[in-house]
Amino acid sequence: MLRLRSQLQAKKLPPDLVTLIDTIAIAGKDIAFRLQQGAMSGVLGSAEKENVQGETQKKLDVISNDLLKTYLLESNTVRGIASEEEENIVAGHDHAKYLVAFDPLDGSSNIDINSMIGTIFSILHAPTTETVSQADFLQPGRNQCAAGYILYGPSVMLALTTGNGVQMYTLDQRIGEFLLTTDHVVIGKDTQEFAINMSNQRSWAVPMQNYVNDLLAGSEGPRGKNYNMRWVAAMVADVHRILCRGGLFAYPWDNREPKTPGKLRLMYEANPMGMLVEQAGGSAWTDVGPILDIQPETIHQRVPVILGSINEVTACVGYHKNN
Ligand code: AHG
Ligand code: MN
Ligand code: MN
Repeated sequence: MLRLRSQLQAKKLPPDLVTLIDTIAIAGKDIAFRLQQGAMSGVLGSAEKENVQGETQKKLDVISNDLLKTYLLESNTVRGIASEEEENIVAGHDHAKYLVAFDPLDGSSNIDINSMIGTIFSILHAPTTETVSQADFLQPGRNQCAAGYILYGPSVMLALTTGNGVQMYTLDQRIGEFLLTTDHVVIGKDTQEFAINMSNQRSWAVPMQNYVNDLLAGSEGPRGKNYNMRWVAAMVADVHRILCRGGLFAYPWDNREPKTPGKLRLMYEANPMGMLVEQAGGSAWTDVGPILDIQPETIHQRVPVILGSINEVTACVGYHKNN
């Protein structure tokens, strides 16, 4: 009864959505197996290719993308996919009910050091028109039917929301099934922990500089408490920590590439994580408004991200309003 598929069926979700989530879970198990083989199966290192965003792809970025693509496009529940590693959307089955946007491997720089990485996914309703196009994917995050990630860590875990709270499942390797391990994830309202790449500090906008300076001032500063810092360099792992014990995660705009609004991608990083965090009682903002209200303009669009414990996100956003 604790198995993923039976849990989803018990929630009386549409059968095609259950099948789709189960398909993503199967792809995740396949990716996890290849990750565990590591150097023994020659999957580490660079693919010596660039993706559409000018990032050098790792072999496992390409392998994970190919696996997800194959599983999803085989499923008659998928009308189309958008991936970090694909320049354009790829059409699936006519009349299928869902679109999937995904980051096949988040935290690529951790692959070769055997550290935390994950797969992030966002599920949207498909159009009822005859053809599927990029425009069909450009729906605000509020429209997501489901969102989640699979974390490849000491345990393989699935965090999932279908719009009614957040559940966590852990892969039982003996039987090859995701089992429900946390039924109701709640992010505490307050925190004394933040996650941000401090090496970019001099490149941030003034409000973010001021906010982090005040965190660093600790109990003697305006925030009146000491903060701890964590940075896994994989959003999926930093968000997982926040779902487990609260905190604030930010990847703000910086002036290294002034025309780029941030590093993280709206459709397959910020939106699914934003839905999970909101569904767990946290908050997910850009510097000007809730992430889930953004009307996307392109599938690979980037956004500044501030998410986590609601009172800390409100405090951080307040610095942007006052400056
Ligand atoms: P990806 O590996 O999918 O390109 O995403 C990496 C992202 C995100 O997961 C992480 O929070 C951030 O890049 C790390 O950035 P830094 O290299 O600046 O630490
Ligand atoms: Mn990513
Ligand atoms: Mn990625």
